[in-house]
Amino acid sequence: MSNNGKSSKVSGFYKLSVEKRVEFVRNFSDLTEEEKRLFSTCLDMDIADRMIENVLGTFELPLGVAVNFVINGKDYLIPMVTEESSVVAAASNAAKIARIKGGFKTECSNPLMIGQIQILNMDDVASAAQKIMDHKREILQLANAQDKILVDLGGGAKDLEVRILDSPLGKMIVVHLIVDVRDAMGANAVNTMCEALATYLEEITNGKVRLKILSNLADRRIVKAKAVFDKEKMGGEHVVDAFLESYMLASIDPYRAATHNKGIMNGIDALIIATGNDFRAIEAGAHAYAARNGKYTSLTRYHKDKNGDLVGEIELPLAVGIVGGAANMHPKAKLCRKILGIKTAQELAEVVASLGLAQNFAAVLALSTTGIQKGHMSLHAKNIAVMAGAKGEEIDKIAERMIKEKKIKLDRAKEILEGIR
Ligand code: MEV
Repeated sequence: MSNNGKSSKVSGFYKLSVEKRVEFVRNFSDLTEEEKRLFSTCLDMDIADRMIENVLGTFELPLGVAVNFVINGKDYLIPMVTEESSVVAAASNAAKIARIKGGFKTECSNPLMIGQIQILNMDDVASAAQKIMDHKREILQLANAQDKILVDLGGGAKDLEVRILDSPLGKMIVVHLIVDVRDAMGANAVNTMCEALATYLEEITNGKVRLKILSNLADRRIVKAKAVFDKEKMGGEHVVDAFLESYMLASIDPYRAATHNKGIMNGIDALIIATGNDFRAIEAGAHAYAARNGKYTSLTRYHKDKNGDLVGEIELPLAVGIVGGAANMHPKAKLCRKILGIKTAQELAEVVASLGLAQNFAAVLALSTTGIQKGHMSLHAKNIAVMAGAKGEEIDKIAERMIKEKKIKLDRAKEILEGIR
């Protein structure tokens, strides 16, 4: 199991210095010296100024890397950008348990996005709908004329669906344009096509086109990931049972499902941000998909296999791209893609789904056993120690003392520091 013959499995990675960790990643992902230097640079002001409006500066967040991942037989290091402690460690730990039974296995649909075109004010909605379907070939041709490059790459508008919806304004038509966006997230390609169809659709339906925009409920662009988690490494079969009891609540109760899915997104968003993708689009799609059967529920499912091991599965829409937008402009997004060693947007989506499953498994395992505060407290205590003025080895010493005393407070950290010095 390797990526160019290299393993992502590493113990005690968190104990290494930042320099040693960077060196490990450089070696794993064949980074150049220039790419290595990027880790400690900020986004160039000129690039920032072109990305959004009214720029004042840049805003930094930590970039970490999750280790131990094996996905479809290939080793991955997964870059993660997040402000939340414990997330990267938890994902790495889940991946370590999953790799005992072969790691994550995934399935991915074609990268199909849906564009919506809303048509109102028709005298005869049913015959307007029929006319649209009668002109399907011309409509797809007109859409594909907007993006020759995408079509040359094997993508483009592939299909059309017509939905008739009732509303307080009367009946309306929503045309769904199904577009294969290949390695892009797809918003630009789809929106351009939808806008280009407006006049033609008004002509053939005698109606008024209003909205023309892609749907973030990308339910034609679905990714599934699965892993078996070793019962012994989890702490025994009773822990698998405890896990399943916890999971059951997320499957039946939207209040718990929201938090459960938030834990999934802790991992997913961190990788989405690291690769310069649109995390709001991913969030919107994930939560809408979680409610697709009329009741909001968990995006993951779990059961115990014959061996007593825990089987976990995740299924969600993932509109991710490796070309266009920030993915192309942001030097660190490019660096993160190189660290991943991914070749296509589909491969990226498969890694994202696996990370989401790993993150969820880690959170529910912690909640079913020790609770999550223990993990959080150690970093929190270290931060308090730093705030109290501790340096180097003092930080760990003060943090350990405060955890032992169950008193993690700034004044106590200052007292201990004075005592040490
Ligand atoms: C915290 O960021 C995420 C969790 O609440 C997720 C969960 O409850 O499953 C720990």
